[in-house]
Amino acid sequence: MKIGNKIIELPSIDSTNNYVAKEFMSGSLAEGTVILAAIQTAGKGQRGNKWHSTPYENLTFSFPLSLKSKLLTEPIAINFVTSIALCLLVRSHCDDAAIKWPNDIVVANRKIAGILIEKQYYSSNKVNAVVGIGLNINQKHFSVKNATSLFNETGCIYAPKEVLLQFIAQFNFWVTQPFEVLEEKYHELLWLKNKISQFKSIDGECFEGAIIQVNRDGKINIKTNQTERYFANGEIHFIERDQ
Ligand code: BTN
Repeated sequence: MKIGNKIIELPSIDSTNNYVAKEFMSGSLAEGTVILAAIQTAGKGQRGNKWHSTPYENLTFSFPLSLKSKLLTEPIAINFVTSIALCLLVRSHCDDAAIKWPNDIVVANRKIAGILIEKQYYSSNKVNAVVGIGLNINQKHFSVKNATSLFNETGCIYAPKEVLLQFIAQFNFWVTQPFEVLEEKYHELLWLKNKISQFKSIDGECFEGAIIQVNRDGKINIKTNQTERYFANGEIHFIERDQ
């Protein structure tokens, strides 16, 4: 199952994820079609946050996948393929790009891209997934701390469409790989793996530990002095540090 056979460019839309979800459900969009928007007026981020992206300077795009694809048999595989493809694309321009669990790509400590995967359960055994990606390309100034772009890291201006084609090529390669290969590559690219780091849980507890792995259920496994602990998306934060 490949993506990007067809790329549709929209001048402006509320959210490419919303557009893809609606059009795919109504049958008017083929699986893997990439919807790219120059402007998003209500871009969505993780956990109800907004995704802000300066018009024309970055990449904001989405594509639908369906349960028929092999990829969805191991649900975390969509996340692994997308994260690996995005990370390797960024790494081809900036050496130290890494996957920051659960859904970010960082260069050093700075976020350069975010992934929003939304699933639609429309009957008891059918699931569609909308994969949405925001990748900062030519934007120079950010209102949030610790954000960056390819331009800020390399000093080069990029053609967003070319970068999109690089992502599509990466995705289409990794999507053909067996799950065990994806699992290994994901962990090779995982930020702070096996490095002692500081974390804060949602109940306010700060602790030190090292990331061991991300499990197939999507939870992160952290080894502390005393024990191994497991956290789902949203249950834990990294305490920021300068690298
Ligand atoms: C995050 O890091 O919080 C995830 C950000 C995902 C943003 C992208 S931009 C294209 C697609 N459409 C949306 O509304 N969101 C995703």
